[in-house]
Amino acid sequence: MLTNSRGISLVLAFAISALVAAFLSLMPDTSATLLLVAWGLSFSVSYLLVTITLEFLVFREIGNIYSLLEKIQKKDLSEINDKSLRSSLSPLGKINSIINSYALARQKEIDTLQKTAEFRKEFIADISHELKTPIFSAQGYIHTLLDGAIEDKQVRLKFLKRAAKSLDSLDVLVQDLLTLNQMESGVIKFIFTEFDLKLLIEEVIEELEHKASKRKIKIDFSFDHEKTYITKADYQKIYRVCQNLIYNAVKYNHDGGEVKVSLKSSKSTLQIDIKDNGQGIPPDDLKRIFERFYRVEKSRNKKDGGTGLGLAIVKHILEGHQSKISVSSTVGKGSMFSFSLPLIKDKKTLEKELAENKASTA
Ligand SMILES: Nc1ncnc2c1ncn2[C@@H]1O[C@H](COP(=O)(O)OP(=O)(O)OP(=O)(O)O)[C@@H](O)[C@H]1O
Ligand SMILES: [Mg+2]
Repeated sequence: MLTNSRGISLVLAFAISALVAAFLSLMPDTSATLLLVAWGLSFSVSYLLVTITLEFLVFREIGNIYSLLEKIQKKDLSEINDKSLRSSLSPLGKINSIINSYALARQKEIDTLQKTAEFRKEFIADISHELKTPIFSAQGYIHTLLDGAIEDKQVRLKFLKRAAKSLDSLDVLVQDLLTLNQMESGVIKFIFTEFDLKLLIEEVIEELEHKASKRKIKIDFSFDHEKTYITKADYQKIYRVCQNLIYNAVKYNHDGGEVKVSLKSSKSTLQIDIKDNGQGIPPDDLKRIFERFYRVEKSRNKKDGGTGLGLAIVKHILEGHQSKISVSSTVGKGSMFSFSLPLIKDKKTLEKELAENKASTA
């Protein structure tokens, strides 16, 4: 009986009212009716006060703490949320809220660990698959040669070339992975220099023109001949960004398609758009194409398909330049990838702007 609030209140109210009655009985001229009324009143008032205090400030909070501890013990932290962190006047309420925030922090930690474990599992599966393909292929050719094909001069050369090609793609994959890893851990340093972005894009297009013309794909580059497009960035890395984006626009295009590269300058930035009229990317895939190894066409052995690391590297390089890649795409119509870099004004442009400003204020 003494373990709940009513039992304790009853005992305390009884003790208080008995004390009040005893104290009053010591006074002269106290009638029995007055004693009874005083006893009754003090009993009910103290019973009510003690019950309310115990019920709301102690027992309810203890009950909450108890159920919370039970959840923690069962590792069922899913129902714990920020709302349970209400402020309370009672010290027990404060203990309850501290336990709550502790459990919430643990839940977040568990979620992050689960996500990392999932990511690691997926990453190992992807990397094993990607490594397996060129290794198996080179291994197959070399074993066939060892099993006797080496005697045939023509087959020997053909198989050796194919084995070398597989090993080359293995090398590209490992290099890409290393680059990504170094960029993520901040080991790679960016070497910022000033250069004309227009010339860099022209160089990339020149390099890819041969691949594009084989499939009758036209690469068009538009810019303002009057303007200069000086930026401050890491030349090699921006080359890599443009190379992957323009190559993707060619690779994922249909024969006879079109790639439009445009370079525009505004007040302080240069904007590069790479647009193609190829197959486009479905909305669900669009959210994921910047993830490592993610490819829309799932067949990994597709002739033109790469490793799926290109856009992940692009994203990291642009982040290193405080820039961001954006993409819009419509299935069947094509895609457009854009990013911007800072514009560095040369002396001639600055003088021209100054003269224009003077003329407009005169
Ligand atoms: N312009 C585009 N049009 C349609 N799909 C694209 C385009 N660019 C990228 N994709 C899709 O996004 C995927 C990821 O591109 P990403 O450049 O990261 O990899 P990849 O080109 O397959 O390989 P890598 O660039 O490493 O050689 C591609 O596999 C392709 O499915
Ligand atoms: Mg690519």
